[in-house]
Amino acid sequence: MCGIVGYIGHREAYPIILKGLKRLEYRGYDSAGIALYDGNDIKLSKTKGKVDDLEARVAKEINTEGTLGIGHTRWATHGVPNDVNSHPHYSNSGELVIIHNGIIENYEPLKQELETRGYVFKSDTDTEVLVNLIEDIKKNEDIMLGKAVQIALNQVVGAYAIAVFDRSKPNEIVVARLGSPLAIGIGEDEFFIASDASPFIEYTNNAIYLEDEEMAVVRRGKDVKIRKIPDDSLVDSYVQELQLNLEQIEKGGYPHFMLKEIYEQPHAIGDTFRGRLLPEEAIIKMSGVEDNMKKFLNANRIIIIACGTSWHAGLVAEYIFEDLARIQVEVDYASEFRYRNPVITENDVVIAISQSGETADTLAAIKLAKSRGAFVFGVCNVVGSSIARETDAGAYTHAGPEIGVASTKAFTTQITILTLIALRMARAKGTISSSDFRHHMIELEMIPEKVEIALKSDALVSQIADIYKNAKNFLYLGRGYNFPVALEGALKLKEISYIHAEGYPAAEMKHGPIALIDENMPTVVIATKKGHYDKIVSNIQEIKSRSGVIIAIVTKGDVTVKELADHVIEVPETLECLAPLLTTIPLQLLSYHIAVLLGKNVDQPRNLAKSVTVE
Ligand code: G6P
Repeated sequence: MCGIVGYIGHREAYPIILKGLKRLEYRGYDSAGIALYDGNDIKLSKTKGKVDDLEARVAKEINTEGTLGIGHTRWATHGVPNDVNSHPHYSNSGELVIIHNGIIENYEPLKQELETRGYVFKSDTDTEVLVNLIEDIKKNEDIMLGKAVQIALNQVVGAYAIAVFDRSKPNEIVVARLGSPLAIGIGEDEFFIASDASPFIEYTNNAIYLEDEEMAVVRRGKDVKIRKIPDDSLVDSYVQELQLNLEQIEKGGYPHFMLKEIYEQPHAIGDTFRGRLLPEEAIIKMSGVEDNMKKFLNANRIIIIACGTSWHAGLVAEYIFEDLARIQVEVDYASEFRYRNPVITENDVVIAISQSGETADTLAAIKLAKSRGAFVFGVCNVVGSSIARETDAGAYTHAGPEIGVASTKAFTTQITILTLIALRMARAKGTISSSDFRHHMIELEMIPEKVEIALKSDALVSQIADIYKNAKNFLYLGRGYNFPVALEGALKLKEISYIHAEGYPAAEMKHGPIALIDENMPTVVIATKKGHYDKIVSNIQEIKSRSGVIIAIVTKGDVTVKELADHVIEVPETLECLAPLLTTIPLQLLSYHIAVLLGKNVDQPRNLAKSVTVE
């Protein structure tokens, strides 16, 4: 989704903004633009394409002097990706310039109203409507920009993070937020504005994250004052000390962020359970769960809401919670849940899973669940994100920043957290014996080194990728705990290689996908020893007898599947409920290598966004 960067201070704004836009590339975008102000001229340049295209264009079009500026990467919602629809947008008079992440839902009537007053629109965007609405209010009421922004935002319906400045005010940028993230980095006599802290991490460790319906006039050399948009009241702003460091958001020698993040999983999983999983004391310590244990124990059921890969982690959790804690679980797409008039009671525990903590549908589903009295627990990776703040309690995954659009370490760390919660709950409910509880803890503690071993399949997986990279379709099959892994494997392939892939419960294959099987369609089967092994072996035989090609993920030492499959990739043995943490690894590598071999943009696949802040 769109990325926002801004700077006001004593340095040249252009290099800071350009680098910041590159850091936000992971969010997914189709065009980029920048506006710089040196107190005399506003210099604006924008283009369809990547930040590199913008850089080339800027070099030809404008001089880059100026200590105030705003930059934007756009992920198209209203209007196709082209130069004109790219941000920043001028107001009709050319006095105001804006960048925006989000959607103004009532832009059509606002536009019509402005057109009757003589406003002309060059682009198809809702953003150009917003900047002209601000201009109209400012002109008619003869007020300052900040006030005009506030009045305008009270008239719009939708979501926004905006940064806007005024030619007549060379020392200020006005920012506001509702639904889309916005951080203000606070330096010495300088301010940074960005969708997340990554653009300014080398300049300052202090930031204010705007809350929904908050705005600020950021003035050179002055303190930042945050106000509530609905009533203009002053807010006590909270300056956070950032935990992020530069190394975490750079590739560290890997060719792609995705590969780096795949390889970070042993550490990331360890970081997720560090201090929480204490096998020697036979304790699982999670304050968010502990403080709300009554809610968990009295729950009639658990409802898990999420999107994308996080939804797949939710599906794995369904098996874990039902199996260990003997509680009914429902897993729903947040986008369906929020519009379905779901039955929710005060005795339901809702678990919302989100890497970014900003997914618009998940956020809306949380609000709905809360409004109906449910207790909502968040599982997020990004500290201080909207979902982390909106939920009643929660646990961070501590996976570190995930930059590759295709989620990898977020998935395994989400499963880790959910396993911890299920185990803790099972212990409290007495649905697991103390010896089994300890056994699960010890096995979980060994997962990082087993992931390390699973990663050793990399070279083999890369050879397999080379053989099948030109296939047009893939089928992924798994049963039980490995069924969601099949879904996730197929999603990874689709996302970054653009090859069609379907994940299916292996037994269901007979009800449709078996018709597709021939020698041209590889089937990836997750066939680990524990959990329906014999059944999976039968499924493999059914595919082989129809000339299908099998790539099997098996437990180390497997004999039976080895004889049947065309290729086998081994993972270490573990408990059935922990298998997804290992079987996922070769599937991530397979999609990665196929995408690289096909020359695709692995970290920024077309049309996708890392953080989907619009519905
Ligand atoms: C986007 C990303 C996916 C992610 C999904 C949910 O589609 O590309 O990788 O799984 O959003 O995001 P969340 O941040 O809520 O986990």
